[in-house]
Amino acid sequence: MKKVIKILTQNFDRDDSHTLETYTKTGGYQAVRKVLGKIAPESVIEEVKRSNLRGLGGAGFPTGMKWSFISKPPKKPVYLLINGDEGEPGTFKDRTIMTRDPHRLIEGVLLASYALGAHAAYIYVRGEFTFCMEALGKAIEEAKEAGYLGKNILKSGFDLDVYVHPGAGAYICGEETALIESLEGKPGRPRNKPPFPAVVGVFGCPTIVNNVETIAHVPQILLNGADWFAKIGSDRNGGTRLFSVSGHVKRPGVYELPMGTPLREILYEHAGGIIGDIPLKGVIPGGSSAPILRPEEIDVGMDFDQLAKIGSMGGSGGIIAMAEGTCMVWALHNLARFYAHESCGQCSPCREGTGWAEKVLRRIEGGHGTASDIELLEKIAKGMSARTICPLADACALPILSYLQKYRDEFEAHVREKRCPVRPKRAA
Ligand SMILES: Cc1cc2nc3c(=O)[nH]c(=O)nc-3n(C[C@H](O)[C@H](O)[C@H](O)COP(=O)(O)O)c2cc1C
Repeated sequence: MKKVIKILTQNFDRDDSHTLETYTKTGGYQAVRKVLGKIAPESVIEEVKRSNLRGLGGAGFPTGMKWSFISKPPKKPVYLLINGDEGEPGTFKDRTIMTRDPHRLIEGVLLASYALGAHAAYIYVRGEFTFCMEALGKAIEEAKEAGYLGKNILKSGFDLDVYVHPGAGAYICGEETALIESLEGKPGRPRNKPPFPAVVGVFGCPTIVNNVETIAHVPQILLNGADWFAKIGSDRNGGTRLFSVSGHVKRPGVYELPMGTPLREILYEHAGGIIGDIPLKGVIPGGSSAPILRPEEIDVGMDFDQLAKIGSMGGSGGIIAMAEGTCMVWALHNLARFYAHESCGQCSPCREGTGWAEKVLRRIEGGHGTASDIELLEKIAKGMSARTICPLADACALPILSYLQKYRDEFEAHVREKRCPVRPKRAA
C-alpha cells in the first residue's frame, strides 16, 4: 500500500477542524502571508502550472494553464467562481471540504483571486447543501474579522470579497457556463463556446470557474512548492485527490490518496474489499458519467491520463463498486433515468436522446425488449454523442456504450428470457 498523504484532510479528524483557530494553528493562512504583495501574480500562476494540479471537478484541465487564459492587464473586472454544485452521482467530497475545513477553501480562493487579479469571488453551492453554506458563511465572517478578507488584506493593498451563492439543486448547474447563467439569475442552461468564460464569463467579464477541491489544494502548493506537490502524484497529475468510494464496498467513504493510486488498492485495501467477499462485477471509476470498468481492468492507476488510456475517465473521482449479483441493465437504467431527468432540454439530441434511451432501457429491464432494442439503444447513444452544447448528453451516452460493450450478454439474456436473469424476482 502506498503511503497515505493527507493534504486536504489533515484536520478532518478534529472536532474543531472548521474553525479559524484550528486552521491557523496548523499552518493555515501562512501561504497568504508568504505570497500576498510579495510574489508577483504571474509567478503564482507559473508555480501552480509546474505543480501539475489538474481540475478536480471532472475534466482534469491543468489549473495553472486555465488561469493563464485571463488576459493581462484585464480590460474588465475578473471574477473567480468556485463550483460547489457537486451533482455527479457517486461524488461526495467537496461537501467534506466546505464543512470540515472551509478556511482551506477560503485561503485557496484568496490566493487564486490574487493570481488572477479578481476582487470578487463567488462560491456556488448546491441548493440542498445548507450545512455547507452555513459553515462557509461563518468561516467568511471569521476570515473578515481576522483581516484575511475585505480591503487591503494583511496590508498588501489587495482587496477581495467572497460571496456564497446557493444553487437550486440542478445537476446541469454544475456545468460551468450553466453555473454562470444561474449566478446571473437566469435558468441554468449551458452557453455555446467560444467565447470561453476566461474571455466572456459572468456579467460579461473574464471569469475562471474552478472546483472546490482544486482550489483547496492551492495553499499547500504555494507553501511547500510546486515540486513537492508534483512529486506526490503521478506523471502530469500532481498531488492527491479525494476519491468518493461507494457501492458494494465494506468501508465506503472519502479517501485522500495520491493521484495514480491503483484502483485495486483503493477498493481492496482502503475501502476494505467487496461486501461479503463476493467477486467484483464492475466499477465506475470517476462519477456516473465515466465508462464502466470490468474487474480485469482495476489495476489501472487512478489519474486522468491512465484512465483515458483505457477508455474511461477520472471525472469527479467518484468510485462506485458493483458486486456480482448486480443487474447491469438495472444499473444502466438507473443512470439513464437520472440523465433524462436532468437534461436542460436545450439541445434536441440530449432532450430526446436521454429520454428515449431511458424508455428503451426500461423495456429491456422489464423483460419486454426485443433484439432490435439493443441495437436501437446503441444507435441512440451514438446519435447523441458530441452533438450538443455541453457534455451532458455524452455523460449519458458514454456509460450506455460501455455497458453494452462490456456486459452485452446480459442485455441479450434479458431480451431472450423476457425477464431479469440476474435478479429474476425483481423483474417478475
Ligand atoms: C453536466 C455537467 C455537470 C458538472 N457538474 C460539476 C460539479 O458539480 N462540480 C464541478 O466542480 N464541476 C462540474 N462539472 C465540470 C465543470 O463544467 C467545470 O469543468 C469545472 O467546474 C471546472 O473546475 P476544475 O477545472 O477545477 O475541475 C460539470 C460538467 C458537466 C458537463
